Amino acid sequence: MSIREIIGPSNPVLRRKAKAVDNPNTAETQQLIEDMIATMRAAPGVGLAAPQVAVSQRIVVVEYAEAPDDLPEDVEPPEPKLYVIVNPEIVNRSDELVDGNEGCLSLPGYAGAVQRHQAVTVKALNRRGKPIKIKAHDWLARIFQHEIDHLDGVLYIDRASKVWKIPEADQERDAALRE
Ligand code: NI
Repeated sequence: MSIREIIGPSNPVLRRKAKAVDNPNTAETQQLIEDMIATMRAAPGVGLAAPQVAVSQRIVVVEYAEAPDDLPEDVEPPEPKLYVIVNPEIVNRSDELVDGNEGCLSLPGYAGAVQRHQAVTVKALNRRGKPIKIKAHDWLARIFQHEIDHLDGVLYIDRASKVWKIPEADQERDAALRE
């Protein structure tokens, strides 16, 4: 397991449409997935797509603890859940759109306001090649939309109504925005 370098827009791989994975059960792909999880955790971030580590393949990892915004302080937040999705496809999108702020590990120090579908259903293969379906809403749905965009070379700045530089002092606190 090793931490890979996260690329920025100066590397053309980030803007390329990534290729579907034929069979995730190869040593190379399993290694890539392990490295992506380690890289996401080290960043830290809540999601990472293979093109962000300069591999043009349709693989995404997400790790996110779904907690309501109004979670009382004396209640333990839920354990983060890890998702590994291969060849993901959004098969259903809510009509409802929601505004939110996003950041990206490939564009450190910046954030933007992006409108996303409030809920999505994602069809994919899991890391062993088994078909799965995930229904996600709110922040998790936003993360999936952001990551799946990466597989088509799309960055949140392409969709943002506004992009700004995060003040140095706030960058640590905004770790949850990094995808
Ligand atoms: Ni990103």
